[in-house]
Amino acid sequence: MENKEYRDIYEAMCRKAALNAQRIGTDLREFPGRMDGRYFDVDRNTLRPVEHIFCWTPSFFTGMALMAAQHTGNLSLVRWVESLYEKYRAKVFDTPADTMHDLGFMYTLYSTLAYRLTGSDTMKELSVRAAEVLAHRFVPNGRYIRAWGRMDDSLPDYIEESLKQNNFFANSQGLAIVDCMMNLPLLFWAGETTKDKFFTNVAIAHADTTLKNFIREDGSVCHAYRFDEITGEPAEEFNDCGYSVGSHWARGTAWAVYGFALAWRFTGLERYRQAVLKLTGKYLELCAPDGVPVWDFRLPEDKPARHFGSQETWEYWDITNPANRTLNVDSSAAAIMACGMLEFLSKEENESMRQYVQTVARTLAQQYLELDPECPGVLRQQNGNATFASFGDYFAMELYARLLNEPILAW
Ligand code: GLY
Repeated sequence: MENKEYRDIYEAMCRKAALNAQRIGTDLREFPGRMDGRYFDVDRNTLRPVEHIFCWTPSFFTGMALMAAQHTGNLSLVRWVESLYEKYRAKVFDTPADTMHDLGFMYTLYSTLAYRLTGSDTMKELSVRAAEVLAHRFVPNGRYIRAWGRMDDSLPDYIEESLKQNNFFANSQGLAIVDCMMNLPLLFWAGETTKDKFFTNVAIAHADTTLKNFIREDGSVCHAYRFDEITGEPAEEFNDCGYSVGSHWARGTAWAVYGFALAWRFTGLERYRQAVLKLTGKYLELCAPDGVPVWDFRLPEDKPARHFGSQETWEYWDITNPANRTLNVDSSAAAIMACGMLEFLSKEENESMRQYVQTVARTLAQQYLELDPECPGVLRQQNGNATFASFGDYFAMELYARLLNEPILAW
């Protein structure tokens, strides 16, 4: 594809990011994935606010808006991001116990990116505070950042009944998850910014634990791992986001590749470079030729991808329909993986990775991108259940930014 095509795509994404900022206004929430991409056609009172303990996706919208501001010089997008400050401040300063491992996604794509773009000390302090709160989830016995629940094992009063029953959210003692690799850049950044090695040491310890316990001999990866809560001894593989224990969740692999590529950049440690090579080697062996993987490489042919809460999506699945397989792809995994590979390629050339990135850029452009400004969603067919979702939208936008050599300020 020509650079001009990338540019047209990226500029359409920038316009959409600006429109979405207007659509969101002052009420940023956890807008769930939807098949029609109309994230905002919903009663917002039913959605988790930024302050909610289990909120993890709002900053994909601020991240897209700030990338658009960087590209276009549209300062109103920076002002929009700044107008949301109080929610983000309250979360980590007023209710730090009611937070989880995804503070990395939440603050890297909010305050770290804003700080790097504008030099604002307020945003810098906010990110350092978020990094402190995240680092305090580190469990020394076991050397991992604990996933999900409060560190004191209680639940905030506002937690909905369904989550109280959820074994992962409500019983997260001893649990770590592979997605958390993408939360480490907040800690690495804080270590560099404050010169306090505590942050860097926590990030390295968690990355090493992931390396040791999550990556299997064959180059596949598990979603979650449970450690003995008291001794910290590795206990067993767990799963929440992929198909099952023992499965190979494509998006989890992409989080791991991008996370290790960034850990390699921050530390220069060879073992993280090797982890990227091992994970991508297996992934490329298994991925479909068009670059968009099935949601979980070990999903049986006749099974739907796991239902993530939308009845609408579940009913769409028809076991007799041979086109089912196309519903089970995860385009977000392709976008995240391509960004992770480009991060790696910024340090070292690799022909297979380079080809994969080109394939993904072409396939997404031809079949998966929705550039109509009327539709808030950007990337179709995410998550194995045919939805648009903000996380894949963000990484699709980052992918074209990277292809255009825009400086990536977030990570
Ligand atoms: N929690 C990250 C994901 O679902 O990919």
